[in-house]
Amino acid sequence: MIKAIKGTKDIFQPEIFNWNVLENLILETFLNYNYSEIRTPIFEETALFARSIGEATDIVGKEMYTFTDKGGTSLTLKPEMTASVMRAVLEHSLHKKQPLNKFFYISPMFRQERPQAGRLRQFHQFGAEAIGSNDPYLDAEMIMLPYIILASLGLTNFKIKINTLGSPKEREQYKLVLRNYLQPKLNDLSEESRKRFETNILRIFDSKDARDIEIMKDAPKIEDYISDADREHFEKVLAVLAVSQLDFEIDHTLVRGLDYYTHTTFEIVSDSVGAQSALCGGGRYNLLSSQLGGPEIPAVGFAAGMERILLAVKNENITLADKNFIDTYVVVTDKEMKNSAYSFTTYLRMEGIRTDMDFLGRSVKAQMREANRLNARYVLFIGEELSENKVILKNMETGEQTEFDLQEELEELIDEIILGDLSDEDIEDEDFPFDDPSLN
Ligand code: HAM
Repeated sequence: MIKAIKGTKDIFQPEIFNWNVLENLILETFLNYNYSEIRTPIFEETALFARSIGEATDIVGKEMYTFTDKGGTSLTLKPEMTASVMRAVLEHSLHKKQPLNKFFYISPMFRQERPQAGRLRQFHQFGAEAIGSNDPYLDAEMIMLPYIILASLGLTNFKIKINTLGSPKEREQYKLVLRNYLQPKLNDLSEESRKRFETNILRIFDSKDARDIEIMKDAPKIEDYISDADREHFEKVLAVLAVSQLDFEIDHTLVRGLDYYTHTTFEIVSDSVGAQSALCGGGRYNLLSSQLGGPEIPAVGFAAGMERILLAVKNENITLADKNFIDTYVVVTDKEMKNSAYSFTTYLRMEGIRTDMDFLGRSVKAQMREANRLNARYVLFIGEELSENKVILKNMETGEQTEFDLQEELEELIDEIILGDLSDEDIEDEDFPFDDPSLN
């Protein structure tokens, strides 16, 4: 048997119901904040990611799914969206059509990492990119947006961490200071960090090695090297967050694993998901546009991992989706009436009533069992009484059954199903041939 690739996942019911709730919440929240959706291709030219995320990063160095197509072009399955969104803005000159473009997305991403809980090779992110403004209010909004979504899901066990990397000029100076600090300690660093000392020195802050952590504790802090203007920007972001009553923690070691960041960086981490604790990450990337050959366009964004968020939901024992149910199950009690039952099913569906019927030629008893399995609120019996234009509706919660005359009481029937409002005379239990309790 052929199986799904390691690190990828099939998602179906009941798990998919949580995805549906999350996706609806994302859509609702972003539209509320006036972000419009952007969809970009699943693969791009490899150079796009190499140039933006950075050659010396883990993503570009180790994790990309890169292949050469038949035309000899090097292509890569997108490991993230920021580069693609910026590419799309520049390619379509969207920055010339309006000064600020605010996009959100929900999309699969691909990274060849070692799979474990909360870490997949095909995973899903939702996120946002606001391209065209340097306003610190937008930095704060990028933290607020995922916060609101996590809080709306009922999650509580998470923390917002925030830092600033300042402008590239000051950061280069800071890197030299860091180099001077680390040079004499080089032999005490882990092998990985010794490599990063040469290629991507800031990432030594990300090391999980106890020796590295000890050494980095006393390292010079980037905040002491940023410009006054950058400090002011950062303080404004913090002030807006404070006014919005968001709890956050400043973490000077938060450098993030992608090279395009300038100024604000942030992550939301959870204690509910194990080692892969980052639910969300983002920040400002004011130089990405020019790195890709465009003009200087300030921008800020974030992305959140949907698998990790849903893992946190599970581990915090939150019920997101209602038990699946349908409004009406149409039970055919006389097989001759199947045509009418199908027409009726279609009619109810067109009225916006969630409806299903039997397609397996099952007995009435088995149809009732199916209605119960589907948590049907009502069962509509279609049988020989239809020759007199009558149908019988059973409220599955109360067990009450009502006969409706289709010519005179169709509206009442629909109202009853939609509103659950018993509007007509009840039929005495003994009058009704299908009311056998063993059928429930
Ligand atoms: P990132 O930190 O690489 O940032 O990814 C964002 C989130 O995606 C992570 O916090 C995590 O929840 C999720 N994630 C990453 N890798 C995996 C994986 N292998 N399996 C499951 N979930 C994963 C970015 O991607 C930036 N583009 C964010 C950004 C947008 N910055 C500015 N705008």
